[in-house]
Amino acid sequence: MAQKNQTLGEFIIENQGEFKYSSGELSRLINSIRLAAKVVNHEVNKAGLVDILGAAGDTNVQGESQQKLDVYANEAFIKTLTNREIVCGIASEEEDDFITIKGRNQNHDNKYVVLIDPLDGSSNIDVNVSVGTIFSVYRRITPSGTPVTLEDFLQPGRNQVAAGYIIYGTSTMIVYTTGHGVNGFTLNPAIGTYYHSHPNMTFPEDGSIYSVNEGNYVHFPQGVKNYIKYCQEEKEDRPYTSRYIGSLVSDFHRNMIKGGIYIYPSTAKNPKGKLRLLYECNPMAFIAEQAGGKASNGFKRILDIEPAELHERVPFICGSINMVNKAEEFMQHAEQLKK
Ligand code: AHG
Ligand code: MN
Ligand code: MN
Repeated sequence: MAQKNQTLGEFIIENQGEFKYSSGELSRLINSIRLAAKVVNHEVNKAGLVDILGAAGDTNVQGESQQKLDVYANEAFIKTLTNREIVCGIASEEEDDFITIKGRNQNHDNKYVVLIDPLDGSSNIDVNVSVGTIFSVYRRITPSGTPVTLEDFLQPGRNQVAAGYIIYGTSTMIVYTTGHGVNGFTLNPAIGTYYHSHPNMTFPEDGSIYSVNEGNYVHFPQGVKNYIKYCQEEKEDRPYTSRYIGSLVSDFHRNMIKGGIYIYPSTAKNPKGKLRLLYECNPMAFIAEQAGGKASNGFKRILDIEPAELHERVPFICGSINMVNKAEEFMQHAEQLKK
């Protein structure tokens, strides 16, 4: 049960015993993310006021144009996570390769790697629509004292020790899990403090919202098309309603609160889907499962996929458990018929 007016700082201290490794370190890591989130939040909030909009001119490793706030958020998170004697490496959607971080005295003793999508939903910045940040934390595999390697980042999602997102919406929130349920904290911007506003968040088992970019419908696999038609059918417990913001964080957040399913399937343009396994799907899948929901690629649990490369993409179906089960049924049935 949440205590009245409990702050994120208090919550971290109170619950650090739940963390199976060195608890103080993870608390410090979450603390640094909380700080970076405030910095980025401040910048996101004034985006409409200053001449910061528009592409920064660079393209990221996926060939997409970067907005200035992507760059800003990327730098803010990297800077805050460095020099704290916790993180030995960071991989970011905005960087071609992972970054090695040395500890005090230039050693390689730090134990955790962090993977981030610093600004998710970046195409929504120009139009004052919610964006987010997604983060994912693993304990390194290689021995402490040696430089971090690619192997430390290419771990299946089930190895995550923490994951979360920040949503810069009508309110700014941090939602995260360390494997003991999901908790949400809302920023009071007047005093810069996050309060424990959403204790033990859970996905309703069922929902009536489906979130998919239907503009790509003709390019979807047959099973996904059939599932969408099923959602639209006039039945006692249907039709469902469609909601799609175009920021994964915001679509996920709404669906977790109200009950719903998010789908980004493979398309003709993106045969492997669009979303990135390491920066987007794994952290959201960990949160979803911790909240009683489910995340799959249609055939397999997201958290059991063995990643082969940093910027790997994957079809993503995530949300209320009964809805994801139903969508999987449609996809697997359509695949059977092909054989
Ligand atoms: P990012 O801004 O980090 O590149 O992520 C955008 C992602 C995700 O947030 C969103 O759900 C999806 O792309 C939207 O894609 P479409 O515009 O193709 O629907
Ligand atoms: Mn993203
Ligand atoms: Mn992004």
